[in-house]
Amino acid sequence: MKHWRMEQMNWEGFEPSKVDPDIVPLIKAASVVERNARDYTDYLKHVFVGDAEFSQAATYWAEEEVQHGDALGKWAMLADPDWNYKDAFQRYREAYQIDTDVSASIRGSRTGELIARCMVETGTSSFYTSLADATDEPLLKAICKQIAADEYRHFKLFYDHMHRYLDREKLGRWARLKIALSRVFESEDDELATAYYITNDSMTTPYDHKRCIASYMGRAMKFYQQKHLDRVTAMIFKTTGITPHSRTQQVIAHIVYHLMKWQQKVFAHRVGLPA
Ligand SMILES: [Fe+2]
Ligand SMILES: [Fe+2]
Repeated sequence: MKHWRMEQMNWEGFEPSKVDPDIVPLIKAASVVERNARDYTDYLKHVFVGDAEFSQAATYWAEEEVQHGDALGKWAMLADPDWNYKDAFQRYREAYQIDTDVSASIRGSRTGELIARCMVETGTSSFYTSLADATDEPLLKAICKQIAADEYRHFKLFYDHMHRYLDREKLGRWARLKIALSRVFESEDDELATAYYITNDSMTTPYDHKRCIASYMGRAMKFYQQKHLDRVTAMIFKTTGITPHSRTQQVIAHIVYHLMKWQQKVFAHRVGLPA
């Protein structure tokens, strides 16, 4: 069951003068990725064939993700009335598709799949929290808060199912950490870069992965504060079975924050954005 509905949001309260132009391209890109969640449900249903409880949960999960796409898409059309969410999604579907017809997880096990899902939700919950904290536009702030809360619930959902499988599959901490980190670094793969390209660039501009990911990350990473990385690292620690909220986690969160700020400058410089 959805925890909130599009109709609940105060769409009349949109304030154009408070829109940060650097946030709009991020919201456009995120909207089509979110709406594409039903493909992931098909993939997950193949991976978890025979697990009716999880398949049902994955169906509800996808409907919430689709609503994220719809809410963000609607907001982006208010911010940029020349942009069309449904058209952009159609073009995104044509440009990027995942292989859903699988017989096992690409992560090597069901536990591994659920760890990867936990990492995606860690990324999305921190992303929307950072945007909610950064934007002064009241409608987007409210939407991002609702979405961030959903994403954190999704993290808990996949985390609980992961523990169910961990009892059977017995993946050690290092194996879990390896899967978690490999999924974190995949955030620079083609999914986000293609979404950025389709939703922001003119179709006469050729696709250039390096430019698109730099355009996306150079903007997105700007909005992260130390407290968001504290939470990200705590969620990664928790998923991999390492005690969170420790001195070690604090130190790593601090390092990750500074690495991200350095990386943001590199990306911004590459595409001529102010750092
Ligand atoms: Fe989402
Ligand atoms: Fe989610």
